[in-house]
Amino acid sequence: MADKLIIFDTTLRDGEQSPGASMTRDEKLRIARQLERLRVDVIEAGFAASSNGDFEAVQTIANAIKDATICSLARANDRDISQAGLALKGANSPRIHTFIATSPLHMEKKLRMTPDQVFEQAKQSVRFARNLVADVEFSPEDGYRSDMDFLCRILEAVITEGATTINVPDTVGYAIPELYGEFIKNLRERIPNSDKAIWSVHCHNDLGMAVANSLAGVKIGGARQVECTINGLGERAGNCSLEEVVMAVKTRRDYFGLEMGIDTKHILAVSRMVSQTTGFVVQPNKAVVGANAFAHASGIHQDGVLKARDTYEIMRAEDVGWTANKIVLGKLSGRNAFKQRLQDLGVSMESETELNSAFARFKELADRKSDIFDEDILALVSDESVASDHEKFGFVSLSQHSETGERPQASVVFTIAGKEIRSASDGNGPVDASLKAIESQVKSGAEMVLYSVNAISGSTESQGEVTVRLQNSGRVVNGVGSDPDIVVASAKAYLSALNKLQSKADRVAAQG
Ligand code: KIV
Ligand code: ZN
Repeated sequence: MADKLIIFDTTLRDGEQSPGASMTRDEKLRIARQLERLRVDVIEAGFAASSNGDFEAVQTIANAIKDATICSLARANDRDISQAGLALKGANSPRIHTFIATSPLHMEKKLRMTPDQVFEQAKQSVRFARNLVADVEFSPEDGYRSDMDFLCRILEAVITEGATTINVPDTVGYAIPELYGEFIKNLRERIPNSDKAIWSVHCHNDLGMAVANSLAGVKIGGARQVECTINGLGERAGNCSLEEVVMAVKTRRDYFGLEMGIDTKHILAVSRMVSQTTGFVVQPNKAVVGANAFAHASGIHQDGVLKARDTYEIMRAEDVGWTANKIVLGKLSGRNAFKQRLQDLGVSMESETELNSAFARFKELADRKSDIFDEDILALVSDESVASDHEKFGFVSLSQHSETGERPQASVVFTIAGKEIRSASDGNGPVDASLKAIESQVKSGAEMVLYSVNAISGSTESQGEVTVRLQNSGRVVNGVGSDPDIVVASAKAYLSALNKLQSKADRVAAQG
């Protein structure tokens, strides 16, 4: 039987570290449910000790998700590890992932610790974690830029203390595939007890080689766990992308000879959910999940595909969830059909009230748009944050006027802590006027660092999905809004970003 490759998804932890991608507990739970349907082996749900919000997210996911191993990150100290253990109490299969930097640069400049101190702390942390759970992962942060002899010494010691997985991060995306593969191979050959742990790869994408490096770690190095994120989400240039690594191993089974548990037909749905939740739009030419990934524009290609699809297609679009823009619901669809579709998409509503409010918005959308696709439903559910009672700012209505040669005007009605506010402004365009009308009342002082519009299902009849990224006092947040009217979608996105800015930001950075 072929060896198994463990897929460790860290969208909710490492992915979330990218500026503006922070998610609420409910958003994380929704994505975790999708990851469970995708059948990933391990879900890194967060970094429990970093904030109350993250603790709750790990705890909620540990209580709700039963098929996957649930993991929490923890720095190599007793407090972080205890918090991780506590948050994971309800999990069927809990894992604590503890880490400490081991490269000369990180030890000296960031930790201000000697190698011997780091060695002792790593050992003691793994021992402490093993008293709480049976499954402990250890990562030497910046492992790829660490001294080989020191790494061998520390990794041998943590395996002796009971680490069950050893993960070797290329934290700064510096590796080259062949060299990274050899690096893992060397470690496994030189460490006497290396066969007592599963070896894992964790590659960042700064030079665009995260997937290639991870695959080399598997093929040359013999790693049997890959750490990755949906859409390659992550700090800077991101992480190794789950959909690419999984489809490479599956499509080239002849070369890798490995089994995975992943149910690939859910890939597209989870990719869309992550993009709509975080506001990180997937580029059209992105492998596997980009809008053009299976589109054949040139006549020659189309002709070839029509005669025999494998002339130009190495994967089947339906194997990763593409369903040719299937109409799923319409104006006449009832509440049960809507509820069923949400379940199929892995979206669970916390209460009947929440379901009723989502259904009301679905009906409203169906009145304005004849065909409702899965993407519309996911966007509508993501929009819940703008409409929900527990958010400070909520959208009510908007009117705007623009005419060639005249300065556009907008008037917006929205709520601040439940109180209805009316505000009007002019602007360079109707979007600008609407956002100025809101800002003139809210006075957040935030700087807008990104504004983007995307058509959810392709045509001008589709809903516009707007992402607004705001920056204020060192914090960066993304707000997402969708509506067939892009001016309304923009106002919703702006209010959603203001809600996120508003929420407490007491999080400790993992690698800080
Ligand atoms: O990139 C990195 O080094 C990490 C560790 C915390 C595993 O994310
Ligand atoms: Zn990382």
